[in-house]
Amino acid sequence: MEPTRLLSSALARQIAADFGTPVYVYDQTALEQQARAALAFPNAFGLTARFAMKALPNAAILRTFDRAGLHFDASSGYEAWRAIKAGVAAEKISLSTQELPADFAALWNAGITVNACSLHQLDTIGKLFPGAAIGVRFNPGQGSGGTGKTNVGGPDASFGIWHEHLPAVQEIAARHQLRIVRIHTHIGSGSDPLVWQQVSRLSLDLTRHFPEVTTLNLGGGYKVARVAEEKGTDLQTVGAPIKEAFAKLAEETGRQLHLEIEPGTFLVANCGALLARVQDVVDTGAQGRRFLKLDTGMTELLRPSLYGAQHPIFLFPGNDTGRRQDYVVVGHCCESGDLVTCAPGEPETISSRNLPETAIGDLCLIGGTGAYCSAMSTKNYNSFPEAAEVLVDTSSQPHLIRRRQTLEQITQNEILPAGF
Ligand code: LLP
Repeated sequence: MEPTRLLSSALARQIAADFGTPVYVYDQTALEQQARAALAFPNAFGLTARFAMKALPNAAILRTFDRAGLHFDASSGYEAWRAIKAGVAAEKISLSTQELPADFAALWNAGITVNACSLHQLDTIGKLFPGAAIGVRFNPGQGSGGTGKTNVGGPDASFGIWHEHLPAVQEIAARHQLRIVRIHTHIGSGSDPLVWQQVSRLSLDLTRHFPEVTTLNLGGGYKVARVAEEKGTDLQTVGAPIKEAFAKLAEETGRQLHLEIEPGTFLVANCGALLARVQDVVDTGAQGRRFLKLDTGMTELLRPSLYGAQHPIFLFPGNDTGRRQDYVVVGHCCESGDLVTCAPGEPETISSRNLPETAIGDLCLIGGTGAYCSAMSTKNYNSFPEAAEVLVDTSSQPHLIRRRQTLEQITQNEILPAGF
């Protein structure tokens, strides 16, 4: 999907008036379109497409995808329960976690599936449920991410079981009569499509060591272009050779493996935008810079500060002067790291955007904020409340799907010891 404004100025004004700013806005039509694209991933012998719900776990989004035919990837016990609470059948939830939940047995008994992500996890699950059918997440030896922080494969990554420890996997599985029925790999977010294909072949080869494996899960990581300078991964292109490789394995061995993918970014990144208001315009003199301060920032959008991520910025000037200005766009938190317009991949380097001349009170829309924004922020920093979330349905009707937090909710778990 191309970077898009997502909202007309009329709808933006209506949403701001009805729900306030900052507010995340998601587009149901776009979500359903992305779900269809994921479900059309090339496959030889069947496909399960899972939504990596860590990208955007709101119940209304989970339900939208559940109805669209997606299954789910949960990254913690809490996420798995959250999906169940949202009405997702446990059988549709697969858990791949860095931290096996203390109540894992309850989740297992509810019917979720799991990929053991370390030898310790495999052993723990084996002790709890000898004879179970489970998946194993491998680190295939190579990774690729849009930034070093999102590369989760190779010798520098702690995720999954290092591929050379395969004999230990077999030994633990044999000790507990575990049936390994699924192999899982996920090598990063924003992966280079060629590395992804290469690793997918390595993962397919791993299945040769596990005769009971019926499913190969190749993770997520498909690139999305949020700004015009970026290039997204086309699922048809990246998947076609892998489909062939599955077919070839079947010819050779008679094994027709089921494919799973689990994108997060691809399904939601460009289906969401963050609607904010310009709350100040300041400058640092003739040789300095002109800043737009928004009523949002790292409290809703951490990706620029964390990765130097680029997000498109659209302004809705109340008074269109026809002029443009270079603006440094910053957030409302009291630190210079709260920078929206950083240089690509360089969170600490100030950059500016040429935008329509704007004034205090104007609305501003930050695009590409469906994935890992509401889900991953410095929520409550500077005691700003968690923002509201709105879903625009297929008839262009906005629905509030999460209320804005109140100050009472921010402080509700604080306790003053006696005498304070
Ligand atoms: N599967 C597993 C096991 C994962 O850990 C992840 C993401 C995904 C699937 C989905 O990856 P995606 O398709 O979204 O790239 N916060 C970063 C992304 C980190 C994702 C971590 N794991 C961002 O804002 O780009």
